[in-house]
Amino acid sequence: MGKWFPHLYDTVMKPLEKRKFKRIRIKLVEQATGKVMEIGSGTGVNFPYYRNAVSVDAIEPDSVMRERSQKNRAQSPAPIQIWNTDAEQLPFGDDTFDSVVATLVFCTIPNPIKALEEVKRVAKPGAAILLFEHVRVDQPVMEKAQDVLTPLWKHICDGCHLNRDTLASVRQTGIEVNSVESFYKGVFITVSGTWGQAP
Ligand SMILES: C[S@@+](CC[C@H](N)C(=O)[O-])C[C@H]1O[C@@H](n2cnc3c(N)ncnc32)[C@H](O)[C@@H]1O
Repeated sequence: MGKWFPHLYDTVMKPLEKRKFKRIRIKLVEQATGKVMEIGSGTGVNFPYYRNAVSVDAIEPDSVMRERSQKNRAQSPAPIQIWNTDAEQLPFGDDTFDSVVATLVFCTIPNPIKALEEVKRVAKPGAAILLFEHVRVDQPVMEKAQDVLTPLWKHICDGCHLNRDTLASVRQTGIEVNSVESFYKGVFITVSGTWGQAP
């Protein structure tokens, strides 16, 4: 993890969070019901919005992020347990969760397909998969810019790829996409999906 990133993350994100992201997060996270897993919970920005969750298991591999998330954890309406682990190898049994949440995470996870396979393993059949991500834009000039900038961006922003096609990865792994909403000309999207069929 880049040294500055976890320390300055909340400060750098503040203008975007205030302007738009807060509303996006609330709308997405309120859809998470029952037993919830959040991947890459960072500083716990989503924690205060788990109004409909019974419990949340949040995984976050970075120790500074985990430490910083304690304040938001205390403000959550649902009990939250934070785990030091990677999304590619989850310490949970099969068919455990009713909902899975990930926000601004699949851009950074080293092996997103492996992580999505793990999501499918630990999600109950019919579980809600709720994502808010920045993604590769379907526009030639923007796409090219994202490709050119990604090596430097990755270096500065702790492994974050500007050009990941996360929606394609989600579809590739067989998660059913029920709705997609796009923001900032398609740079950011929310995805509401379902894994498998409820019995
Ligand atoms: C850009 S931050 C997003 C944090 C938070 N989800 C948010 O919405 O603000 C990306 C997060 O993904 C975490 N991360 C990186 N690699 C990961 C992995 N393999 N599994 C799970 N989380 C990971 C990072 O530690 C970091 O907290």
